[in-house]
Amino acid sequence: MAESRPKVWVSQPLFDDIVARLHAHFDVVQVPDVSEHDAAAIADALRDVDGALVTLNERIDGDAIAEAPKLRAIANVGVGYNNLDVPALHARDIVATNTPDVLTETTADFGFALMMAAARRVTEAERHLRAGKWQGWNFKGLLGADLHGSTLGILGMGRIGQGIAKRASGFDMRVIYHNRSRLPADVERAVNASYVEFDTLLAQADHLVLVLPYSAASHHIVDAAALAKMQPTATLTNIARGGIVDEAALADALAGGRLASAALDVFEGEPAVDPRLLALDNIVLTPHIASGSLATRRAMVTLAVDNLIAALGAGPDAGNPPTPIAPAAKGGKDAKRPGTA
Ligand code: 8YV
Repeated sequence: MAESRPKVWVSQPLFDDIVARLHAHFDVVQVPDVSEHDAAAIADALRDVDGALVTLNERIDGDAIAEAPKLRAIANVGVGYNNLDVPALHARDIVATNTPDVLTETTADFGFALMMAAARRVTEAERHLRAGKWQGWNFKGLLGADLHGSTLGILGMGRIGQGIAKRASGFDMRVIYHNRSRLPADVERAVNASYVEFDTLLAQADHLVLVLPYSAASHHIVDAAALAKMQPTATLTNIARGGIVDEAALADALAGGRLASAALDVFEGEPAVDPRLLALDNIVLTPHIASGSLATRRAMVTLAVDNLIAALGAGPDAGNPPTPIAPAAKGGKDAKRPGTA
């Protein structure tokens, strides 16, 4: 009798021509439409499969893993993986992979775009114009803050943070950063950035950008107390994960003039957005699209497919997926909190 082929679940429509490569090795269960999968649906989907290709929308938690006896690999389409219970996966020797590197430059581009939009009030000005409020040229209307010559603060100095720092050189910005660990001196020199303590970062940044991974340690790290340490003229940009910022405290600070403006691409309860944020003018809001160039999203799916094929022991890299999530992510500061996108 012919051996049955491994079975994999693809949780969302991605790029069919890339996902088609899975068919050469596996029986593929493809979700046809963009879908919200609740915990029960995910447990059902994983119950009988060897592997899965998932996005940040799918929370792969301990219960689902416990109910999936055949599961051997989860390939996440995204660099952040707080949607995965990595310790539970590793405890069962299930390979977990993500998609670093391929999205670094695109995401850094977008972080810079959001920061500029917040500083120069781009979306606020457009809404003003579209609403027919531009009745005459106003010399002092919609004045913003400069980027050039200002101090850029970066919280989280991984690949994307370094990409943003490199871009800042062209704007003659002074770059300071805070990170769990200080970068080697040669890397600091290459990206022209200086390490400072968290409180110094808050106090000195004219523009603060958040690019750190979401974890128990970074949950609401930007809270009311942190916001109070920032300059009232400063901007805050978040392209990391929503749960890093206390959104209620941010709404208070923006409404009360204690922070000039903000730009958020990620939200704690996404796709829901706090109505208080929606009501504010001095905030730029985008629907989690920082990695969303066509080329990069295709590269992310390509890497995730390569990872899944290899993790399930097929293809040229059988047994060696290109970008596994290291077991070091178990516990400690990298322990991901399923429950927040
Ligand atoms: C993705 C992201 O859109 O890579 C990440 O961590 O947040 C985004 O680039 C998302 O993960 C898709 O699943």
